[in-house]
Amino acid sequence: MRKEVVLITGANGEIGHGLIKELSKRNGIQIVALDLKPLDESLEACCDRFIQGDILDSMLLGRLMAEYDITTIYHLASILSTKAEYNPETAHKINVEGTLNLLRMGVELSTWQGNSVKFIYPSSIAVYGIPDLETKHKESKIKEWMWCNPITMYGCNKLYCENLGQYYTQHYRQLAKDRGKHSIDFRCIRFPGLISADTIPTGGTSDYGPEMLHSAAKGEPYACFVRPDTRIPFMAMPDAIKSLLMLENAGCDTLTRSVYNITSFAPTAQELYEMVKKAYPSANITFEVNPPRQAIIDSWPEDCDDSAARNDWGWQPDYDMQKAFNNYLLPSIRELYRKTD
Ligand code: SER
Repeated sequence: MRKEVVLITGANGEIGHGLIKELSKRNGIQIVALDLKPLDESLEACCDRFIQGDILDSMLLGRLMAEYDITTIYHLASILSTKAEYNPETAHKINVEGTLNLLRMGVELSTWQGNSVKFIYPSSIAVYGIPDLETKHKESKIKEWMWCNPITMYGCNKLYCENLGQYYTQHYRQLAKDRGKHSIDFRCIRFPGLISADTIPTGGTSDYGPEMLHSAAKGEPYACFVRPDTRIPFMAMPDAIKSLLMLENAGCDTLTRSVYNITSFAPTAQELYEMVKKAYPSANITFEVNPPRQAIIDSWPEDCDDSAARNDWGWQPDYDMQKAFNNYLLPSIRELYRKTD
């Protein structure tokens, strides 16, 4: 008898950590985790199986398909926006070809199982590309269809993969005579910058938020690479995990689209600085603008309109900025660095 499982790629990443811990608390869910690097120790007990490997390895995906009835795929593996700029073609391979491999696998599994495999995909505010600051201030909360002109390889990859996900759900092999009845059920969230208490992001451009906080907690100096007046949306990790699980569990007939914005708070870098300074008054934080990274952040929206997610599947964040710091980030971060002292 083949086992029904949830497959999570990019298991060691920031979202992977939070998602695996949360999913493992739910009864009857078996997790198969995949990552290039050995699984973080803290996740070992939460997973039924861990496979160290590459999403570009089609033999590996083939073996997975032979062994498991994968009912849901959370495809989290990706190279983030700053890192992708250092080797755009490699990023493209991982972000796009990797996603394509998993989408095809999802379709194949759906056909075998006679049921649509859910494909949950985190996209990003990086899909937006606002031409100048004046427009950015004027637009304020932008909707899903606006300004989809990304200026980063990561943003281009995410936007294209959103489209691929919709293509594989609705139109894959549309001219074939033996076209299967079942394809995947692709659902996607465009995340703002995420702040976790447990992990630090690697290679993103919204990283100045979490980096500022974690450096202060560790007593290390930090030079913020954007101007104090820079504003983009952020979200506490528990809300990001909650949104993924909500979208996965939403009834098909309630969804009016497959790609959704979500948002919770949208501080300037100065407001983040003040919040961090309040908690760590001796923190040594300076602002040293890195112009190319600033330009990337300037092209991202000040905030997003998430009314579609609110209306369709009842999205509502648990944390505003104050609550995120006081009830989640600060207590957990203090605990984290006490343990590693
Ligand atoms: N946090 C991501 C990045 O900065 C954006 O989704 O690349």
